[in-house]
Amino acid sequence: MAILLTDLTAATMRGGYGLIPDAAIVMDTVMDGAITWFGPRADLPAAYRALPDTALGGRLVTPALIDCHTHITFAGNRASEFELRLQGASYEEIARAGGGILSTVTATRAATEEALVSAALPRLDAIIADGAGTVEVKSGYGLTVADELKLLRAARRLGTLRRVTITTTHLAAHAIPPDYAGRADAYIDEVAIPSLSAAHAEGLVDAVDAFCEGIAFSPAQVERLFRHAKSLGLPVKLHAEQLSDLGGAALAARYDAVSADHLEYLSPEGIAAMAKAGTVAVILPGAFYTLRETQAPPIAALRAAGVAMAVATDCNPGSSPMTSLPLAMNMACTLFRMTPEEALLGTTAHAARALGLTDRGTLAAGQRADLAVWDAAHPAELSYRIGARALHARYIGGRFDA
Ligand code: NIG
Ligand code: FE
Repeated sequence: MAILLTDLTAATMRGGYGLIPDAAIVMDTVMDGAITWFGPRADLPAAYRALPDTALGGRLVTPALIDCHTHITFAGNRASEFELRLQGASYEEIARAGGGILSTVTATRAATEEALVSAALPRLDAIIADGAGTVEVKSGYGLTVADELKLLRAARRLGTLRRVTITTTHLAAHAIPPDYAGRADAYIDEVAIPSLSAAHAEGLVDAVDAFCEGIAFSPAQVERLFRHAKSLGLPVKLHAEQLSDLGGAALAARYDAVSADHLEYLSPEGIAAMAKAGTVAVILPGAFYTLRETQAPPIAALRAAGVAMAVATDCNPGSSPMTSLPLAMNMACTLFRMTPEEALLGTTAHAARALGLTDRGTLAAGQRADLAVWDAAHPAELSYRIGARALHARYIGGRFDA
């Protein structure tokens, strides 16, 4: 079975907007269908002209968006820390006082896998409702072998409950739990590495991440985890240079990381290393905004060095309780001076690269038929409007999803 979409403007996202006015798209509707033909309607091959067509009223079609950095599986929330920060406490102070990530860890350890799935679904639904077809989900709020496995299983379950691809990232090296206070090396040996082995054996890991920061893990500790990830054949990524410059991005690049994320304090050496390795810079304006940071990531220097930039929600209970990619795109433009074109590349083609995925993120024959149809005429509108909820429909694997 095939379906034909017409009366649309397509943004192919191959190297830029790649706009094709009055385009036509032919897709397989079998499970995980692909785009079989794509181009200007005038060039539609005769073989497809007899297909019944769905006319989209001149709407904009883009690849379904890809949220390449989220932490949506967790229990509880941190509204009280939001209030504390507004009274002047910093994110680091709250973390060092045992709040922050560790307060979410306490709530998450007490939750069942079932409860974690239920808690994450509204967040996933909101991300989907704003155009996503693929969402990366990290563990990192369990910090024991059993609790990290529970989080990754919950994340995988999410992908069976909604029309979305979930990719899972092991992030046991996210924070040092109280029972390992002052013993971060032991935590890497006794929890981070064994939980990675166990999760990988269960098929629960698509990539491996860590938080390289003064309040989390040192570059040397991250490196030991990365060596283990590489021995298992898994791609790595890193929370790097969010609050200070520890040289995390350059370390990640040495391990051929698919991405380095946050990057507010990224150095010129870090940029050069990322450019050389082809590591994607994942820009997370929601965390910058929420923490009222003042040092923006070096967007102009990343651009000049030819580093591909992705944009993601970083949806998490502490630093970025945000569930909208178009909102992240708006913030990336307004706060960081990314262009709307870069922002959309950041949630499509470059987000796919940040996850090591080659079958999505652009519109072309052979790509997965994951499309977003927007109540918009030009793609700059997606970054320009604030809270517009402009999604008209999605097609996921070639199948319609309102
Ligand atoms: O991406 N930086 C570390 N991890 C998250 C924050 C997690 C939390 O505060 O719960 C982030 O910002
Ligand atoms: Fe994060």
